[in-house]
Amino acid sequence: MNELFDRIVDRSHTDATKWFVVQEQLNAPDVTPLWIADMDFAVAEPIQQALKQRMTCPVYGYTERGREYAELMADWFNRRVQYDADPSMMMMTTGVMYSVSAAIRIFSKEGDKILIPTPAYEPFVDKTLSNRRIPVLCPMKEDNGRYELDFDQMESVVDEQTRIFILCNPQNPTGRVYSRQELEQLALFCEKHQLKIISDEIHADFVFDGKLVPILNISEYTRRNTIACVSCTKSFNLAGLKISGVVMKNRELFEQFRAEAVNVGIASINIFALEAMKAAYRQSEDWMDQLLEYLRANRDYADEFFRTRLPMIKTRKPEGTYFFWLDMRNCGMEWETLNQTIIEEGRVYLSEGKFFGSPYLGFERLNLASPRVQLQTGLEKLEKLILSKTGH
Ligand SMILES: Cc1ncc(COP(=O)(O)O)c(C=O)c1O
Repeated sequence: MNELFDRIVDRSHTDATKWFVVQEQLNAPDVTPLWIADMDFAVAEPIQQALKQRMTCPVYGYTERGREYAELMADWFNRRVQYDADPSMMMMTTGVMYSVSAAIRIFSKEGDKILIPTPAYEPFVDKTLSNRRIPVLCPMKEDNGRYELDFDQMESVVDEQTRIFILCNPQNPTGRVYSRQELEQLALFCEKHQLKIISDEIHADFVFDGKLVPILNISEYTRRNTIACVSCTKSFNLAGLKISGVVMKNRELFEQFRAEAVNVGIASINIFALEAMKAAYRQSEDWMDQLLEYLRANRDYADEFFRTRLPMIKTRKPEGTYFFWLDMRNCGMEWETLNQTIIEEGRVYLSEGKFFGSPYLGFERLNLASPRVQLQTGLEKLEKLILSKTGH
C-alpha cells in the first residue's frame, strides 16, 4: 500500500470536472473516469497545511506578491529542468492557456497563421481561432506508435503569413519528450521562417528519463523569440487554483508580455494559489519525486497490460506526461462512435481522439494519474469490451 497515492479520495461532491461529467451529466456512477488532465491524488500535506493556515486569518484582501515568487519558480525550474532562467524575466499568470493566448496576441496580428503539429491539445486551436488567427494543422510522423515532427510536411505548409509555432513539450497527448536534436532542427526551421515560438511546457515535471530540454536554451534565435509556459498546477494537482508562469530570455519581449498580461488581468493571482505554490516549491519536492515513481509504475503496468492483454491497441510507452495515446482503430468498434461505445458499453471514460485533431478518429487518450486500483479497473473494463467486440 502506497500511503500517498493508493488512497482513494472521494471527489464526488466537489463538482470536480473529471467526476462531475460522469456522475451528474451521464448519471453513471459506475463509469471509471480516466480522462481530463488532473490527478485523483490528494495534494502534498504541506500544501494542505499552508491553505488551512492561510484560512485562519479571516481577511482575504489584496496581497503583495513580490519577487520572492519568481525566485521560487526560477529555483525550481532551474534545478529540475535547467532553464537557467533569470527570475526577473519570469512572472506568474492565472493559467497556461491564458498565457498562450496573450503570447499569440503579442507575436501576431489578426489573420496571421499559426503552425500547430497534431495530435494537439485542442485549446491551442481554440485560442488561435478566438484571437482571429488561422491554425495550420500539421500531422506529426508516426512510426510504430512513436510521433515525430514532420519537417517535410511543415516546410510544405509554412508560408510568409505564418508567424508562430506552438510547441508542446512534453507532448500532450502522445507523451513524447523531444530530444535535443529534434529541438535543434526545430530551432533552425523556426529561424529560417522567422516563426516565433510558444512552448507549452506545463508537463515539464513529468519526464521519466533524464530532464526536459527547454527550447528556450537551444539557440540565440530561440532565446530571443520564445515564450515558455510553465506551471505548478499539473505537477502538484492544483489546476482549480489557477496559477502558472512564463519564462523568457528577451527583456523587451518580457516587458511586452507583462503589459499584455496586466492589461487582460491574468497577472493577478488568487491568494490561495500563492500559498499553494510556495508550499509546493519549498516543501513538497519529496512528494513530487514519489509521485513520479508512482506514475512510472502505473505507466509500466499499463504498458505491460496493453502489450500482453490488448495487443490490438497500438500504443507506445510515454516518455513524459501521464497519458497513454491509444490507436484503437483495430478494436472492432466504429471509429465515429468509439468514445461513446467505450463509455456506454465499457463503462470507462477516456478523452476522445478527435479532441486532438480530426485525423484522430479511432484514437483515445488515457490518463494514468489515479490510484492503481482505479487504473486497473479501467483497463480491465476496456479489455472486456474489446474482447467482446473482437469476438474473443
Ligand atoms: C498541454 C496543456 N497545456 C495547458 C493546459 C491547461 O493549463 P491551464 O489550466 O493552466 O490553462 C493543459 C491541461 O490539460 C495541458 O495539457
